[in-house]
Amino acid sequence: MSDSSKIEQLQKKRQEAVLGGGPERIEVQHKRGRLTARERIDLLLDNGSFRETDMFVTHRTYDFNLDQRKVLSDSVVTGWGTIDGRLIYVFSQDFTVFGGSLGEVHAEKVCKIMDMALKNGAPIIGLNDSGGARIQEGVVSLGAYADIFLRNTLASGVIPQISAVMGPCAGGAVYSPALTDFIFMVRNSSYMFVTGPDVVKTVTHEEVDFEELGGADVHGSTSGVCHYVADNESDCLYMIRTLLSYLPQNNLEDPPFAATTDDRLRTEERLDTIVPDDPSKPYEIRDAIRMIVDNGAFFEIHEHYAPNIVVGFARLGGHSVGIVANQPAVLAGVLDINSSDKAARFVRFCDSFNIPIITFVDVPGFLPGTSQEHHGIIRHGAKLLYAFCEATVPKITIITRKAYGGAYDVMSSKHIRGDLNLAWPSAELAVMGPEGAVNIIFRKELEESPNPDQRRAELVAEYREKFANPYIAASRGYIDDVIEPRLTRPRLINALEMLSNKRDRNPAKKHGNIPL
Ligand code: HXC
Repeated sequence: MSDSSKIEQLQKKRQEAVLGGGPERIEVQHKRGRLTARERIDLLLDNGSFRETDMFVTHRTYDFNLDQRKVLSDSVVTGWGTIDGRLIYVFSQDFTVFGGSLGEVHAEKVCKIMDMALKNGAPIIGLNDSGGARIQEGVVSLGAYADIFLRNTLASGVIPQISAVMGPCAGGAVYSPALTDFIFMVRNSSYMFVTGPDVVKTVTHEEVDFEELGGADVHGSTSGVCHYVADNESDCLYMIRTLLSYLPQNNLEDPPFAATTDDRLRTEERLDTIVPDDPSKPYEIRDAIRMIVDNGAFFEIHEHYAPNIVVGFARLGGHSVGIVANQPAVLAGVLDINSSDKAARFVRFCDSFNIPIITFVDVPGFLPGTSQEHHGIIRHGAKLLYAFCEATVPKITIITRKAYGGAYDVMSSKHIRGDLNLAWPSAELAVMGPEGAVNIIFRKELEESPNPDQRRAELVAEYREKFANPYIAASRGYIDDVIEPRLTRPRLINALEMLSNKRDRNPAKKHGNIPL
């Protein structure tokens, strides 16, 4: 064979591989509003940066006459490229080849790319679109999944791992995305479940369709499995790029600095009046966050799940930060099981990847009730407490209004290694709210009072005057300073820079035992 025909042969093979399962199956994929595996990679990565690996891999199965059906690349496309010029590893399951199902060589390709990502300290992104374990390969494909699960676990906290579910993701296959840091899903196009609608019907007699059982909205709001619900595939891929802009490449790096046009000394007068005078009135904490951060850009994670707490990424003076904020506009910002889980996971992610944590506190306490107690608010609340306690990244806290009871301690208080704890003049730090406190400590007096309502009002006013302010805590140094709300942005930027060389360590151990 001449040199030129060898090159032609190579090019022919490449063209064949790029066609995956063939034009008909690609058309079906497009008709469903879905892109192909390679089209997705092209949208995700910087133009022309993708370098594919293992394009000529084919499966080795003979059973069920599978040796008659070999497709170059098999059912997954793998390789590396860049996002905003930074190295990224990627695998993208190809539904047009055996339904994207995962057998021995599919897993080998994914494992190879995961190993490279870990060794070279760069994030890995998995684009999932698969019918699950390749049925014809039997137990081999189960073992192959386990090889991936192990790598997901070992890479956890070392490199960021991001999953997009862009089609089916069923059975034990869900556990690879579940082990990663963030799951993105596409509305009306992707679904995840451990057992599908048919099995559900057989076992529990419930009639449910794919979307209701495990669609993007269900996982984005009810189960909390999904961190970001995208309207379509290009939105999904674009938002993954945005997320990465806040993250370092690995746990040994600092997050990237992004110079900002927003004035570092900008004051924001609207913050002085954002907290209503009436302590029972809500306000939108995200408005405050947007007024403070660079150019109002806040990338919210888990927006529709446990909205009584808000978490997400932003920048302050160009520095990437993770924000955790009680949300007074939902359930008065109370901490419950789901909000504790949501915030704990976020805090641990930030701490793993050296991202400073800014905590906005306005919390009336933990949610009372048998449902919460019986479902383990003690265990779940402890996760958030544990996460804040163990975090060694710079931790800055701003108490905007209520910091009551155990929730005061939990929300990155000074006592659990908050580095700088600030309060607005509207802050109230106490064991509980004035009404509850008066009902308990003056129960007898109120029972005996000829006019209990009037007496209660007097006592509440007295209690509020005495305790509902930041100065008792400030007099003990639990609060480092009380600041005018308008100064929050410059004070936070100053604090981040003051803390930029912070060193703190936990005692040597194999690992802690977070209350799961
Ligand atoms: C081999 C598979 C496959 C699989 C789909 N295909 N799933 N091949 N193993 N798991 C093939 C089909 O034979 C078909 O091939 C092509 O992919 C497209 O499938 P369709 O059924 O035509 O597509 P669609 O109607 O869109 O339905 C998609 C689907 C369905 C809902 C995903 O294919 C399905 O239910 N598949 C099985 C899902 C499943 O039960 N998987 C096992 C889960 S348990 P042709 O040649 O016709 O194009 C699991 C355990 C993991 O994964 C354990 C880890 C520990």
